[in-house]
Parts: sequence; structure tokens; C-alpha cells
Amino acid sequence: MDTWEKLREDCAACQNCGLCQTRTKLVFGVGREDAEVLFIGEGPGEQEDLQGEPFVGPAGKLLDDMLRMIDLDRSKVYIANMVKCRPPRNRDPQPEEQDACAPWLRRQIALIDPKIVVCLGRIAATGMIDPEFRITRQHGQWFDRDGRRWMATFHPSALLRDPGKRPEAFMDLRELRKEIRARCTRTYEV
Ligand code: URA
Repeated sequence: MDTWEKLREDCAACQNCGLCQTRTKLVFGVGREDAEVLFIGEGPGEQEDLQGEPFVGPAGKLLDDMLRMIDLDRSKVYIANMVKCRPPRNRDPQPEEQDACAPWLRRQIALIDPKIVVCLGRIAATGMIDPEFRITRQHGQWFDRDGRRWMATFHPSALLRDPGKRPEAFMDLRELRKEIRARCTRTYEV
């Protein structure tokens, strides 16, 4: 049987792709290990690489604001990324790097067993929901996979670059809050 301890240990020893050679710290994930809601980002940026925690840079501040808008915070959900090591100069993680890192995320999902998964941005949406996923057209829609509800919304970095997308992202978050209230029993417990 898999355990968090074993997963952390295996993941720390990973050399499945070249990113382990250029990273500072591996960014495993953070939050409640039995969360009903999981957020998946793209990969660590500069601050995340230095601190070993996901979404602690400028995009992370916005993600915290987004969570707060629907009465959530980091302690109520789990936050992970498609890849656990920073791609140099913040380039997109390559398909081979995403494939190499996928077993760790898959094991995290199995251990958490979330009811709802929210993909942040195109990379997570195409990797986890549908390779043909179009974030501008399909954000906010629900997909049923493996007994879970999946949705993608804009990546916080995209919302920093283009604040005009924020109202749409907020609609997605309201949709998420509705779904949490309908399906989850522990997330909004105090
Ligand atoms: N962007 C991501 O996709 N993930 C992080 O952890 C930080 C920024």
C-alpha cells in the first residue's frame, strides 16, 4: 500500500528527467492530505524553486486571493503542479518532462482521493483533462473522469498578464464553490 512517507521518499530520489539537475528545491505539493479539492498548476517558478513550496511568488499571492474569494485557503485544499522541478527560465514543461513526473502526481491523487480537481491553466488542462483542451472556450466546464469532477480555469499568471480575464475566472470560482457545497462534506467545515 502506498503512503505519503514512501511517496515523498521516492519522489525526492527522482531522476526521471533533466529538470532535477537545474532545480534548487523539489516542489512536492502542499495542503490537506485528505482534501476534497485539489488544484493543479504547471510547475515551480523562481520563488517556488527557492522555497520548495508551490505558488509562493506573485501568481501564488493571486491564487491565495482567488481561494479567499470563495472562502477557501491553503489548509482546506491541496495544491500540486504538473512537474515538481522548475523548468529553466520558466519555460513550459516539455511533454517528456510532464510524462516523467506524472507518476508522482498520480500517486498524490490516489492518496488524496479528491472529489474535485481544478486545473490551473492550459498545461494542466491539456495534461489532465483533454490534450485538445481550449482554455478560452472550455474554462469553467465540468468533466467527469475516474469518479471525480474536473474543471479548468485560467492560470493566476495569465490573470496577472491579462486582468481582463478576471471576471470570467471569478465566474469559474463561483461555479466551483457551488460544486463544493453540493458534493463535499468537509471542505467548508470550520
Ligand atoms: N505557477 C505554477 O504553475 N505553479 C507554481 O507552483 C507557481 C507558479
